[in-house]
Amino acid sequence: MMNKKNRHKLYSVIVVVFFTLYVGAQQNILPLIPQPKSLVKTPGHFSLTSTTKLVVTTQSIKDELVYFNDYLKKHYGFVLEVTSKIPEKGNYIIFTYPDWEAGLKENYHLTINETFISIIAESEGAGNFYAIQSLIQLLPLEKTTTLNIPCLQIKDAPLMKWRGMHLDVCRHFFSIDFIKKYIDLLALYKMNTFHWHLTDDQGWRIEIKKYPKLTQVGAWRNGTMIGAYSNQEFDTIKYGGFYTQEQIKDVVTYAAQRHITIVPEIEMPGHAVAAISAYPFLSCDEKQIDVERGWGVFENVFCTKDTVFNFLEGVLSEVMNLFPGKYIHVGGDECPKTKWKTCNHCQSRIKTEKLKDEHELQSYFITRIEKFVNSKGRQIIGWDEILEGGLAPNAAVMSWRGTEGGINAAKQKHKVVMSPGTHCYFDHFQGDPIDEPLAFGGYTPLQKVYSFNPIPTELNESEKQYILGAQANVWTEYILNDKHVEYMANPRMAALSEVLWSPNENRNSSNFVARLQKHFLLLDKLNYNYSKALYNVEQITTSSKSHQAINLELKADSVLGKIYYTIDGSNPNIKSIPYKNAITISNNTTVKAALFKNEKQLGKISQRNYEINLATNKSITLAIPPSKSYNYGGAFTLINGVVASLPRTNNQWLGWSGKNLEAVIDLKQLEEIKTISVGFLKEEINWIYLPKEAEVFISNDGQKYISIGKMKLINERFMEISVSPTKTRYVKIITNNYGLIPEGNPGAGSPAWLFCDEIQIK
Ligand code: ACM
Ligand code: ZN
Repeated sequence: MMNKKNRHKLYSVIVVVFFTLYVGAQQNILPLIPQPKSLVKTPGHFSLTSTTKLVVTTQSIKDELVYFNDYLKKHYGFVLEVTSKIPEKGNYIIFTYPDWEAGLKENYHLTINETFISIIAESEGAGNFYAIQSLIQLLPLEKTTTLNIPCLQIKDAPLMKWRGMHLDVCRHFFSIDFIKKYIDLLALYKMNTFHWHLTDDQGWRIEIKKYPKLTQVGAWRNGTMIGAYSNQEFDTIKYGGFYTQEQIKDVVTYAAQRHITIVPEIEMPGHAVAAISAYPFLSCDEKQIDVERGWGVFENVFCTKDTVFNFLEGVLSEVMNLFPGKYIHVGGDECPKTKWKTCNHCQSRIKTEKLKDEHELQSYFITRIEKFVNSKGRQIIGWDEILEGGLAPNAAVMSWRGTEGGINAAKQKHKVVMSPGTHCYFDHFQGDPIDEPLAFGGYTPLQKVYSFNPIPTELNESEKQYILGAQANVWTEYILNDKHVEYMANPRMAALSEVLWSPNENRNSSNFVARLQKHFLLLDKLNYNYSKALYNVEQITTSSKSHQAINLELKADSVLGKIYYTIDGSNPNIKSIPYKNAITISNNTTVKAALFKNEKQLGKISQRNYEINLATNKSITLAIPPSKSYNYGGAFTLINGVVASLPRTNNQWLGWSGKNLEAVIDLKQLEEIKTISVGFLKEEINWIYLPKEAEVFISNDGQKYISIGKMKLINERFMEISVSPTKTRYVKIITNNYGLIPEGNPGAGSPAWLFCDEIQIK
């Protein structure tokens, strides 16, 4: 047996070895994103200089060589000579295609030796381009004459076929130069699909020769909504722009050189206001309307008369001539049926086609367009609303309202692209809203994207085949300029690329974050903006074992640094409390936390106030469960000591559509109560209304309740009731949902939403 002293020695050796391996691993982390399928590091490095030769034996990869030489020229100031002869002294990059299995166009092998680099892929395949992208990510960042590249062997292949990014150029317009820069960003991450959202209520952005007014009139609006939607404020500056067909052809070629297919989206039958403003005959009542200045869903949609289909066929013919890809996106989302209900054309269409209702009329619309698109040898894809009223026979579905639409479509043997709001809406906040620019009201941080699995477990093996892949959407209501698009896309696009490319077993979020940290330097070099929200500490509350206290976890990836925090209101530094395990909070406390590395604060200070009261972390039951989409954290969210912040992100609120909050809180023993308050949200423009009334009941046995009265609205955020000190064990709060939204308001006639956050009992 080993004696104690020797054992200590051995432990020290083990510690040193592991530490060395760990530090070594840190230093050896290659900034490759997405992580290749197989990667083996080998000793040494290849030195790329202006005398390195590019050896090719086929003409078919010209674009890739131009791309690589353009990159070298721009960032290092030299280009490589292309030759068909292998230099005797070595120092070359050779492209070959031995025995490549047909159909594996995107796969590649990249071997970096000390004397040469070998790229093997299908002769005309995207794999050649992806090998170059990997090579580019391995180049040193500094501009030097000798570029040392670490030796390695990569054998790579994508997990999914559809690796997409979307951009809305209607709500805000982006120049051709920026579209190309965006496409280059997609190329960096081996994305292969760019979904170009070209038409919407706020602007028509593609020149159509047959209908020139679409861009003469429809591309311009007389002002733009500014700030939060709930403010309903507008400027009066004429805004717009469009792409000529020549520009579009140029972009399509540019994308093709990067092995990216562009999927154009022409929205129908909804989101059609810009088209109708140019040609009023397209709507049901044929009234002249203006291009929309604000965001939302609008009642003026395409009518279903024949002249509209003639128009759309004319538009789509030109679109299909410009975009050679298989898929044409026809929108299909968010189409109010209001106008159809009172339109003679639409109602007689329902009769002659023997349709049940307006949902089937939408299905008729999409199916008729599909026939036309199919007749030209192409396929349609649409948002998941195209499932309503029956799916067109060959349509592919883009699932955005969760993954249910995609699951449903796959079960019907239709192709699916997953793009659920929960993981793939890059217009949502990616950090605490307090620290972020105004965004759409969802919360989709980096790690949430990284955790995405586009293939639902609800599907069996044969149904899974229908999931082509996924894409992220960048809607630009609140994204005003190029730098802001980049900020919303980066680094979430990097995370998505790995979800779509790397095998699940290679996915590791700490390792991703370590690579990303290095990769940020490349984004800096390439002049792309990106969010650093991952350097901010997340504060997560969980139920504690003791009542009237919560557990607080402080979260950031330990690869990045160490968390220090304070509870006395001061700003944290490395002399503050180092975070180890969850903190129990049993008094009103302000927690400030930040991440530090080598004494340097990395991100922003995260600050949260915890308000502990009699209700905190007690037992709570809800008679009516919240809507699935607004139930993040469950009922605990209402008593977790955190009063939800504004603007709203959906992770701190519970929401009911047309239903009531009916909560019972068991205080576990008789407690003296004086004040009960409940937080509600008023955001009527988004269909969220304060409750009509809220009443509070108390009980000692949980059976017999007596009312202590109705709560009063104390501002437009809280309702409260105060009573003379009363002892009770159970507190029941019953609210009345506002009911149907009144005429003249957004969502008129639909059930109002009730949003609630914290219940406080003092
Ligand atoms: C969508 O976000 N309306 C597809
Ligand atoms: Zn009509």
